[in-house]
Amino acid sequence: MDKFIINGGIPLKGTVTISGAKNSAVAILPAALLADTPSTIDNLPDINDIELLKEMIEYLGGRVAKKEHEVMIDPAGINSFCPPHELASQMRASYYLIGALLSRFKEAAIAMPGGCNIGVRPIDQHIKGFEALGAKTSIEHGIIKVKADKLIGTHIYFDVVSVGATINLMLAACKAEGTTILENCAKEPHVVDVANFLNAMGANIKGAGTDTIKIIGVKEMHGCRHTVIPDQIEAGTYMVAAAATGGDVIIKGIIPKHLESIMAKMSEIGVIIDECEEDLRVRINGRPKRADIKTQPYPGFPTDMQQLIAVLLALADGVSIITENVYEGRFKYLDELKKMGVKAKVEGRTAVIEGVEMITGATLSATDLRAGAAMVIAGLAAHGVTEVTNVHYIDRGYEAIEKKLSQLGADIKRVR
Ligand code: EPZ
Repeated sequence: MDKFIINGGIPLKGTVTISGAKNSAVAILPAALLADTPSTIDNLPDINDIELLKEMIEYLGGRVAKKEHEVMIDPAGINSFCPPHELASQMRASYYLIGALLSRFKEAAIAMPGGCNIGVRPIDQHIKGFEALGAKTSIEHGIIKVKADKLIGTHIYFDVVSVGATINLMLAACKAEGTTILENCAKEPHVVDVANFLNAMGANIKGAGTDTIKIIGVKEMHGCRHTVIPDQIEAGTYMVAAAATGGDVIIKGIIPKHLESIMAKMSEIGVIIDECEEDLRVRINGRPKRADIKTQPYPGFPTDMQQLIAVLLALADGVSIITENVYEGRFKYLDELKKMGVKAKVEGRTAVIEGVEMITGATLSATDLRAGAAMVIAGLAAHGVTEVTNVHYIDRGYEAIEKKLSQLGADIKRVR
């Protein structure tokens, strides 16, 4: 199992380019299976979740040709609706294959999704939507089975705002008979990116990015070319790394609109952000200021940035309060950061963080994707050496993180 050895205390300086959005790419690859002809998708992040999806699509009979950040998917040969359970159970986004295969075959059998251990993460809203479209569903021996004679458009009101359920029901309803209205939808940038991809394939989807999405079923869908949007959480990660190390970093290839809540909160903390079209310059004078965080679905402050911004608040001048409104189990990483001298107290969905002037290197174990990234940033800011183990969590969602950080002057080594 790989680990990172980090010698902290070096201010990051230079330029980093943001990769394609993980949470868009992992939905777009399954979405390509709705077409009868090949699609080419570029600006894909080079991360393990994409490799897993590539393996599953090839197992189903699809042809996948990947070079660097571009992939060609030819779904014509797909002849199965049941990917290997040992692959599907390794990641959360494998559940998008349910919506895609249900739409294509009117049947799918997929292992219960895996993914970051940050809470219960049910999929009842996905199931509710599939059943509303006319599918029969069951969960047997850890496998989700869905089957329908036909899919009929209907009105679905999500009980909770869910990125996964919103995207999965767009996939399932694209070729249903009639019109489907989805209400109380997630509005994340990646929801819009997937809707744009589906429309480029010939779907008829309106309203993505608002809380109501209208899908008029179509008979045929064809391949297309699409460029994945940049990853706003990866961008936020490097913004925090720049500020936590007292550095001065240019972050290239972002969409400022997608970062509004992150930029607003970072500015409140005293981070200086200069915006220039698709780039940001991020630096800070002196210590971060305290601030309160309340995670919310987009356009609120993203839950995926909660663990990262906590590192900045751990070094702030004052006491900060973080309220995690999306996941009930997303504070585990604080137990690890306490080994570095971070002062934090967790009560249910609230964490109280008392800022300290200095944290020291320690041996930490990544517990999930964003927790692992937060530990790396803490190591970059700490005095002394930090070791982060279980970095496979980080590799699931960050392309070449140690290379990008080294190019910014960080002393970070991957040890196999
Ligand atoms: C996606 O997860 C992301 N993962 C997560 O990113 C992200 O944290 C999350 O959206 C919220 O933005 C991918 O896109 C692969 P949800 P998802 O359905 O779709 C509850 C990362 O770090 N819920 O929006 O699983 C759920 O428990 C990862 O990149 C139900 O109750 O999240 C949670 O409390 C971590 N029933 C809330 O809704 C359901 O059927 C939001 O979950 C579905 C969700």
